[in-house]
Amino acid sequence: MRGPEPTVAAFTRRFAGTPLVVRSPGRINLIGEHTDYNEGFVLPAAVDKAVYFAAAPRDDRQYHFVAVDLHQDEQGSFDTLAHSSLGWPDYLLGVIEQLERRGLKPRGVNLAFGGSIPIGAGMSSSAALEAGFLTVLNTLNELGLDKLTMAQLCQQAENSFVGVRCGIMDQVANLFGREHTLLKLDCRSLDIVEIPFVREDLRILLCDSMVRHELASSEYNARRHQCEQGVATLRRQFADVRALRDATPEMLASMQPEFDPVVYQRCTYVIEENARVTAASEALLKGDIDAFGDLLVKSHEGLRDLYQVSCKELDILVDVALGVEGVFGARLMGGGFGGCTINLVREDCVEEFAMELPEAYRDATGREMNLHVCSIANGTSVLHSA
Ligand code: GLA
Repeated sequence: MRGPEPTVAAFTRRFAGTPLVVRSPGRINLIGEHTDYNEGFVLPAAVDKAVYFAAAPRDDRQYHFVAVDLHQDEQGSFDTLAHSSLGWPDYLLGVIEQLERRGLKPRGVNLAFGGSIPIGAGMSSSAALEAGFLTVLNTLNELGLDKLTMAQLCQQAENSFVGVRCGIMDQVANLFGREHTLLKLDCRSLDIVEIPFVREDLRILLCDSMVRHELASSEYNARRHQCEQGVATLRRQFADVRALRDATPEMLASMQPEFDPVVYQRCTYVIEENARVTAASEALLKGDIDAFGDLLVKSHEGLRDLYQVSCKELDILVDVALGVEGVFGARLMGGGFGGCTINLVREDCVEEFAMELPEAYRDATGREMNLHVCSIANGTSVLHSA
């Protein structure tokens, strides 16, 4: 597993001084997809793939960012923030903009970053950039922001500067993650219940389809809008429904004639998925991995048929996986339209899985996939102070 060294070395080649070093992980989500912005439940964790930042403050208000793996640089001033054609700087600049809006004026920064979270794979390299960078600025400028405020600020950065109306799951998983622990997050109260996940007999495997759809962010925002339309319709009869989290299957069914059919499907999925998170958490606590795996499969079916955020390649990965011995469950993970599937596999069947999946995927799609074995790890932290 790649550590911070290449990033620190890149910093040292470009800039003076001893850097502050921060590690910011990717995340997985066991179940609860597209429920976060409906104020429901999710079950994510931080993982052992991470972005590392090496940074030092400047005496002015300039920033100089170096994306080590992409061999790209971006420079500018905190006083004139503008979107970048490179894409990735927007996740960093959005964080600055949010700080400035709160009247916090950070000093300029020299920064190098790089790591092992695949981009666009659904492991939230975006939240890793935001939360890692905010941790850098929080530390260098002694801003004293707590983790929850930081998660909210990063989400707002992505909503308003990047323009993806994401929920708060990724940022919370990134900042609050803990080794061997899943976070059952209530996306309304932001309460976290930690669920231990220490199963030597199981592995969490991600299959990266290597498909990246341009449509992903516009379709994401479209889904979010459809959920809002669903809430508006439900509220005609049920004034207490503030978000889909408050709706029951019975409420929804009773109003079906008033619904746009597509919006109805979307709401059905969200309400069912939210219930699945609670059922899955209970199954885990009882050690009932068969039941847990079945819920993952149901989640995929809902994402594919009702929420319609899957794609041919993800469906193939799930179908093939479910035919391999020792696979308890498999489903697409994250926003959808490409990226990864998450698979819960018996430890002694991992080798078989690693042989069969790439070959079957190649035969069916002509594409190569990437397999990642993930361990649940700690959230963002400072590794070395400057
Ligand atoms: C992306 C978003 C999250 C969440 C997931 C889908 O990762 O950033 O907020 O909505 O998609 O569950």
